Amino acid sequence: MLTREDHALFTRVGPGSPLAPLMRHSWIPVVHSSELAPGGHCKRVKLLGEELVVVQSPAGHVGLLGECCPHRRASLYFGRNEDAGLRCVYHGWQCALNGHCTDMPNEPPASTFQEKVCQVAYPCTERGGVVWTRSGPWAARGARAARRPPETRCAEGVAAAWAGEGAQPHPSSRPCKV
Ligand code: FES
Repeated sequence: MLTREDHALFTRVGPGSPLAPLMRHSWIPVVHSSELAPGGHCKRVKLLGEELVVVQSPAGHVGLLGECCPHRRASLYFGRNEDAGLRCVYHGWQCALNGHCTDMPNEPPASTFQEKVCQVAYPCTERGGVVWTRSGPWAARGARAARRPPETRCAEGVAAAWAGEGAQPHPSSRPCKV
């Protein structure tokens, strides 16, 4: 008979739980490919305790992003699916499928603030009519992320949250405002 603590250890897979890194070593299915269309509306999914949206760009690339906008946490489920990413309908920030913020219409043209902002994003691949993701700490690494301070890097911030090392809750573990 498992104790309550052992049961929690073996069944909880959300950010910060001991099993989260283990689960994220494997590719896991997200949606059937037929549920997405190029340039179509995104779809809400909940994977390993995270609220996410999956979307297929007009060019056919599939991406998995945190549902809450990194600005004021409006839901990207209502976002516009554009060539360069998903655009939040609240203030117009645009998040590329790799999590980089690519446009901030409410910032002055000379502002470089968008280089400091990173949305939770996981790589996807399509095999056998299914979209798969592998969401370990390696998922969002990139040259641009490496230049950022640690607390704003996608991969490191996510990894710390999974390992329970960060004092802050994982960004996708809090609900969106919409
Ligand atoms: S809440 Fe998304 S751009 Fe402001």
